[in-house]
Amino acid sequence: MTTVRINASDAVSIETSALIIGVHTTPEGPRPAPGGEGLDQALDGRLAEILTTMGFTGKAEEVVKIPTLGALPAPVAVAVGLGDAPEGGYDLETLRRAAGAAVRSLTGTASAALALPARTAAEAEAVALGGLLGAYDFARYRTGGDRRPPVGELAVLSGAAGAEEAVAHAATLADAVTLVRDLVNTPPSDLWPARFAEIAQETGGEAGLSVEVLDEIRLKEDGYGGIIGVGQGSVNPPRLVRVAYSHPEATRKVAFVGKGITFDSGGLSLKPSASMDWMKSDMGGAGAVFGALVAIARLGLPVNAVGYLCLAENMPSGSAQRPSDVLHTYSGKTVEVLDTDAEGRLVLIDGIARAAEDEPDVIIDVATLTGAQIVALGWRTAGVMANDDALRDEIVRIAGEQGEGAWGMPLPAELRKGLDSAVADIANLQPERWGSMLAAGIFLREFVPEGVRWAHVDMAGPAFNKGEPHGYTPKGGTGALTRTLVAVAERYAGNGTSARAV
Ligand code: BES
Ligand code: MN
Ligand code: ZN
Repeated sequence: MTTVRINASDAVSIETSALIIGVHTTPEGPRPAPGGEGLDQALDGRLAEILTTMGFTGKAEEVVKIPTLGALPAPVAVAVGLGDAPEGGYDLETLRRAAGAAVRSLTGTASAALALPARTAAEAEAVALGGLLGAYDFARYRTGGDRRPPVGELAVLSGAAGAEEAVAHAATLADAVTLVRDLVNTPPSDLWPARFAEIAQETGGEAGLSVEVLDEIRLKEDGYGGIIGVGQGSVNPPRLVRVAYSHPEATRKVAFVGKGITFDSGGLSLKPSASMDWMKSDMGGAGAVFGALVAIARLGLPVNAVGYLCLAENMPSGSAQRPSDVLHTYSGKTVEVLDTDAEGRLVLIDGIARAAEDEPDVIIDVATLTGAQIVALGWRTAGVMANDDALRDEIVRIAGEQGEGAWGMPLPAELRKGLDSAVADIANLQPERWGSMLAAGIFLREFVPEGVRWAHVDMAGPAFNKGEPHGYTPKGGTGALTRTLVAVAERYAGNGTSARAV
């Protein structure tokens, strides 16, 4: 695991395997960003010439390695593009991505010093976080000895007041995101509902969370018809995990509900193979909820937080639920299952109804819910819907501050009619495909009790990167929305003021 610390020493004197500096684009060519001037001097003012020779312009996330040939202790310097120099302070996401891209290029290197702009604690935190997230590697299933490990030790060069604390905060967030990425990347043969529940008990317990697991017998007894219906086709029975954190000075409570389908085959409404091979990621919502709760506990935030992991494996079999089955859900309402592949909403409504019993100030569910989210917003932007416009906009804003793409989406009232069932209170599918992300949101809203503020985040695209790595985002599980949920909890911590003034 990659570690990070603050170091106040000079970029050109630090003993490290690689020195990372930022570079801006200017009309006169690439120019070092704050933190990178020392390298330019050590190279006799020839940095711009070297970079230009290498075809480097300073565009965001552009990376080039330069041998330093004894000009400084670090044998290699890494220049990473930051784009145009900002007018005021740095955009934190630019710094996170640059740090991530630079660290990703240093696989196999023992250590690296990040001499990126870090004149404030917030900038130092962004550099540390991007660097740590960029160092992620999922090597658990590789047997070859030729694979090079990620950078072992990172030093963030900063003398800013509060930088130590900020970097510790970054490390806690990075650990939580790493945990979520590992869970998402773990193949479903090694992560089924009961196993996920065990991990929640072990890791959550260590972090100081109280963890309660409802097994399939309890779920049946207590009337969780949605979770049971989705899970009944699998030999790996479902679980509902409740993870709770409380703080003596807390005045408010947040509840997070995560879709935790450890594998989504579609059930009897079977998916085509091409849409199935990455459905191990269908527990990314539960992963984000769990990771966020772990981070909230480790940070000791003055807030009460409860998370529900709605865990099931959606499989076809002789015991699987059938299209046209009717479920008696925890809310008391009945649902006709017209398509067993619209399973996420079935487990979520039980989690939402249960979460409402905790009487939280807000319920936020996060879910890899619809392919329509990817159609509408692409791979990197989650859709945010809510029964309260201010809440929706607040979540979009908070996600944006974390550099996690999110955009507000409506819940048009006219879509409710499409969910009418001939036999039950509601159907789990509308007959047409248009607006499916919104119809799923409308469906969920029906199960939110009166007076409860609720938001729904559809992150089908952002949870899993099928493409190439970029910035601090690796291929595969991304840990998306974990940091946003932590930031939401920070917003609700204390007496309505942010716990940290960053
Ligand atoms: N887990 C899928 C949604 C999904 C698709 C997540 C692509 C990540 C990437 C979900 O359970 C599902 O199958 N949704 C269906 C709903 C439809 C049957 C209404 C979909 O989006 O096609
Ligand atoms: Mn599905
Ligand atoms: Zn699914």
